[in-house]
Amino acid sequence: MSRLIVISNRVTVADGRPASSGGLAVGVLAALRETGGIWVGFGGETRETPSDTAKRFNAGRIDYATIDFTPADYQGYYNGFANSVLWPLFHYRLGLVNFTRAALGAYQRVNARFADLTLPLLKPDDTIWVQDYHLIPLGEELRKRGVTQSIGFFLHTPFPARQVFSSLPRHNLIGETLAAYDVVGFQTQSDRNNFVDYAVNNLGATRIADGRLRLGGRIFSAEAFPIGVDADNIAEFAKRSAESPSVVRLRDSLQGRDLMIGVDRLDYSKGLIERFGAFERLLTRFPERRKRVTYMQIAPPTRADVAEYSEIRAKLEASAGHINGGFAEYDWMPLRYLNRSFTRQTLAGFFRYARVGLVTPLRDGMNLVAKEYIAAQDPADPGVLVLSAFAGAAEQLDSALIVNPYDVDELAEAMDRALDMPLDERQDRWRKAMESVTRQDINHWRNNLLATLRAARIRA
Ligand code: ADP
Ligand code: F6P
Repeated sequence: MSRLIVISNRVTVADGRPASSGGLAVGVLAALRETGGIWVGFGGETRETPSDTAKRFNAGRIDYATIDFTPADYQGYYNGFANSVLWPLFHYRLGLVNFTRAALGAYQRVNARFADLTLPLLKPDDTIWVQDYHLIPLGEELRKRGVTQSIGFFLHTPFPARQVFSSLPRHNLIGETLAAYDVVGFQTQSDRNNFVDYAVNNLGATRIADGRLRLGGRIFSAEAFPIGVDADNIAEFAKRSAESPSVVRLRDSLQGRDLMIGVDRLDYSKGLIERFGAFERLLTRFPERRKRVTYMQIAPPTRADVAEYSEIRAKLEASAGHINGGFAEYDWMPLRYLNRSFTRQTLAGFFRYARVGLVTPLRDGMNLVAKEYIAAQDPADPGVLVLSAFAGAAEQLDSALIVNPYDVDELAEAMDRALDMPLDERQDRWRKAMESVTRQDINHWRNNLLATLRAARIRA
């Protein structure tokens, strides 16, 4: 049987410790747990003289192969091109893009190294699945080395409008490499349409009769495969965690107050500054909420070596201090701000206990937290999801309270409305959302993409 080889920047091992934050790590782990396979990725450490073979180990049904890089290459590839160029560009933050040719060079070298070290691991009938913006050119690097197996690609972030993508200096060097894949997957139909628009109008791709694209002598398809969550497991965790020591401690500490929860990597794309501002607006405009609601924001830091991330961290600390300084009473702290990770079980229990889930990114590929919050709810007494119109998840979860995260007043009003929403309306909205989360879960995502990839190969 064909083996599945997943290649991504980050790998994560299920070892019962607090989970790795990030949609890719959570999604791929859940997807591979079922099928087994080989997961190739960065080993987490850099070396002046990196090893010329991948390090192999095994955990459960997953075989890992990890690769290391020089500190300079890792800096240029991960902090530089991936997270100071592609990440802000894909999230429509052109003002934060910091392009250098040196960083582009490191990105290309690291992708070539991924190809060199993956090559010896491959067997003729493997299916290869490359993940995310860190590794866009990897498919082409593998093809250059003679790989003929099926290769799919999935982008976990948005793909922006072509006018935005084409502002990237030398964008065609990156964009054209996507034609090396058999299937290129996007989170939403609009991301997929943005890419097709770019490929046709900027790269000169042509659409062939069956809907696929032809570019530079290759034929490939571009489709939307919205990522999902392990809905049944989260529902089960949440139910079991309801009486767990951490949830009981949280509940006791709230002393009957309503809980609003946010769980996001500490990233400028997540709209945390605006969300904190909206909470302050809630307490100002609706003073009856004071002492009756607590907002808990969990935000584990990531990408600490990129300047924008330390800047937003400092701003959030100041904002949290300002809100608590302005509104706290000796027996009530309005905002709890935690920079740490939790196990998936504990998070599921917190989600279930929270009356309101706040998922208000300024731009997001999908946002798994939105789906996890829905999956964790008690059907008899579900909470309310307040969801940004600019998260990919809003295409599917349209029964949530959809907000424009840039409008602090609208966000404060949505919080107020969610806190008072009657049971029948909460149940009605939740049922619709849960139907989508269950139907398009993580297995559906993986199976759908892999089936399309296999079909594309047979056709080829
Ligand atoms: P992104 O991929 O941009 O980080 P997503 O919402 O799609 O955003 O995915 C984030 C994932 O990381 C979710 O599965 C979420 O539960 C997990 N996560 C975020 N913060 C924490 C945390 N503090 N502890 C454990 N898991 C976390
Ligand atoms: O989902 C978007 C994403 O970029 C994932 O690809 C990645 O796992 C996650 O955010 C976390 O980013 P990082 O791996 O840089 O911590």
